[in-house]
Amino acid sequence: MIDRRSLFTMLLVPLAALGVPARAQDHNEANYDEAKVPVYSLPDPLVKNDGSPVKTAAGWPARRAEILALFEEHVYGRTPDAARAAKLPAKVTQTIPDFLDGKATLKEVTLTLGEGVDLHLMLVLPNQAAKPVPAFLGLNFRGNHSVHPDPRIALSTAWMRPDKDGNVVDNRSTEVSRGAAAGRWPLETIIGRGYALATIYYGDIDPDFDDGFENGVHAVFGKPDGPGAWGSIGAWAWGLSRGLDYLETDGEVDAKHVAVLGHSRLGKTSLWAGAQDQRFAIVISNDSGCGGAALSRRAFGERVGRINTSFPHWFCDRFLEYNGNEAALPVDSHELIALMAPRPVYVASAVEDEWADPKGEFLSAKHAGPVYALFGKTGVGIGEQPPVDSPAGDTVRYHVRTGKHDVTDFDWAQYLDFADRHFGRK
Ligand code: GCU
Repeated sequence: MIDRRSLFTMLLVPLAALGVPARAQDHNEANYDEAKVPVYSLPDPLVKNDGSPVKTAAGWPARRAEILALFEEHVYGRTPDAARAAKLPAKVTQTIPDFLDGKATLKEVTLTLGEGVDLHLMLVLPNQAAKPVPAFLGLNFRGNHSVHPDPRIALSTAWMRPDKDGNVVDNRSTEVSRGAAAGRWPLETIIGRGYALATIYYGDIDPDFDDGFENGVHAVFGKPDGPGAWGSIGAWAWGLSRGLDYLETDGEVDAKHVAVLGHSRLGKTSLWAGAQDQRFAIVISNDSGCGGAALSRRAFGERVGRINTSFPHWFCDRFLEYNGNEAALPVDSHELIALMAPRPVYVASAVEDEWADPKGEFLSAKHAGPVYALFGKTGVGIGEQPPVDSPAGDTVRYHVRTGKHDVTDFDWAQYLDFADRHFGRK
């Protein structure tokens, strides 16, 4: 009779002979079992690559540069210098002074990169507030016209995501998606609190499919050599910075007080934008999950192998080396959060969004704490994930709210309060 150990060996040896690591069978699968979370140790954000410790805020910039370079090299890819330096001429194409029943002014602005790449920025400004006003800037999933049903908003003519049945809805010939995402963008509330909202359709920057650098901003700058070439998240983050470039030129916006935010893949993007571009005064991640705020090493919910299989174009090619091998990553998401220091950062989860690993998102926020402490700032200030609907933390704030993967009024209420507090408005 074959004992269990021999059976194990018999099963593993043929896989190893084929070059398949023992865990390759399962690293594409989501894990929802805490008992299967591996024992892991996190890289220390306060120990430099040469092993020396960082003890003061003055020592942080050098360590910060190392961590940023590791994320470029191993996770998101490096934004080419030419793309970083690009200045996109802006043209205001439409101004609607009586938007939202006269409470707001809507401005549509085209930022032109050339070679067919135009970024359409929609800016909603509160009419009542004294200018310049602070702002939220985020990318949207379905076109600027999906953010509010007003028929005067230009319909996007860009590539659109297929719907859940795989059908491509042609937004050029239909009005169906007008206001379709309005629930995620409570414009009246935002402007009622004295903020502007700026948004760009993410598909304007880089269409969201694996196209081998054929379109969007990637095509303009060509494919850089090597496994560290930027993926789509890098491209979208670049677009956020170009949006901020524009806001810096718009006299009605206080560009020193812009919070960048995003949901899901666009939450991964807001984190990467905030990490690279320290002009963003606040960074907000809404349900960003794997490859965003969630610790990769927990391998809980969506995992590195799974995300790289479903979305091979989001990250750099080197990130694929960590499929089923998260422990080898030289960084983890707590260090991504730490790259925001000393700026305020908000990490939000939804309790039913296990795919995004709410606990792993909390732990990233928590383990960024020692970097904030260098600056005398309080991080989340608690050891365990707080109860549902009970935000916690000061400069690093976290909540897990009731409900599913989405952006809700509850989320926005927290972000507005957070911005008020850190922008000295309360
Ligand atoms: C998928 C993906 C997630 C991502 C999400 C989204 O669910 O697996 O990583 O956050 O899409 O962007 O909507």
